Amino acid sequence: MSRLASSLCGIELRNPVLAASGTFAYGLEFAGLVDLAELGGLVVKGLSREPMDGNPPPRIWEAEGGMINSIGLQNIGVRAFVRDKLPALAKIPTAVFANVFGYSTADYVEVVRVLEGEAGLAGYELNVSCPNTQHGGIFFSNDTALLAEVVEAVCRVARRPVIVKLSPNVARIEPLARAAEQAGAAAISLVNTFVALAVDARHRRPRIGAGFGGLSGPAIKPIALRLVYEAARAVSIPVVGLGGIATGEDAAEFLVAGATAVQVGTATFWDPSSPLRVARELERFLKEEKIASVREMVGTLRMKENE
Ligand code: FUM
Repeated sequence: MSRLASSLCGIELRNPVLAASGTFAYGLEFAGLVDLAELGGLVVKGLSREPMDGNPPPRIWEAEGGMINSIGLQNIGVRAFVRDKLPALAKIPTAVFANVFGYSTADYVEVVRVLEGEAGLAGYELNVSCPNTQHGGIFFSNDTALLAEVVEAVCRVARRPVIVKLSPNVARIEPLARAAEQAGAAAISLVNTFVALAVDARHRRPRIGAGFGGLSGPAIKPIALRLVYEAARAVSIPVVGLGGIATGEDAAEFLVAGATAVQVGTATFWDPSSPLRVARELERFLKEEKIASVREMVGTLRMKENE
């Protein structure tokens, strides 16, 4: 068996590196650039009950060491996804997760209910952390009671594992991670983006059409690592780590901090094949370090408080 073979919520993964939602479209668009079958898995862009047009441009700004986006969850809606994307996605031998967005608990439940009738998905990632909409999203992952309500309601209709994607824009991550676990989440993923502002001083305008956006990329990696570490110590369910991963060694850092699997997002903007490259580099890292299985690395950080 390969050193990289992993499992997440009972789903066998070829490797623990997934393409992150919102940076890999519906996956199929990358087929000419990347052998999708070689991915550990992929998370499609956030799906809502009805199609969404997203936010006014500009929607992306390259910041120092990262990127600010405010796409506003533009997507084709869950029914068009099922009709136009899922049949081809279902043929790809990799774990495909649907990222699910809603303005209300009923929206999340409806999107999952539609997807439950279809084959070809490994699980769901609940996007309760997008900072770029006026309602829903992030508002659910700032409040343990609201978070528990939406996760419980979705878990009642979902037969597939539900991963809850948490926001980093909170004072303490532990209560939110625990609320998701107690409400039935099979795993949590973190971090989504940090609310940020880029300013054009000459024109005295924000650089992003919607005003604020979410910061991602290498600039956030140390904060993401801290949050993954704290969340992984607070729950018994698996943690999927993301936030600025661009190399195999970055991925190794997240595994050591407590992640069972990782996602690569912003790096695909400068290297569309980065999820595969990160997996290959991680394999090389394991060989160099004489580690037989990637599973051995998870949560092995020797922090003073654990010794
Ligand atoms: O604006 C966006 O579509 C971002 C989504 C997210 O961060 O989850």
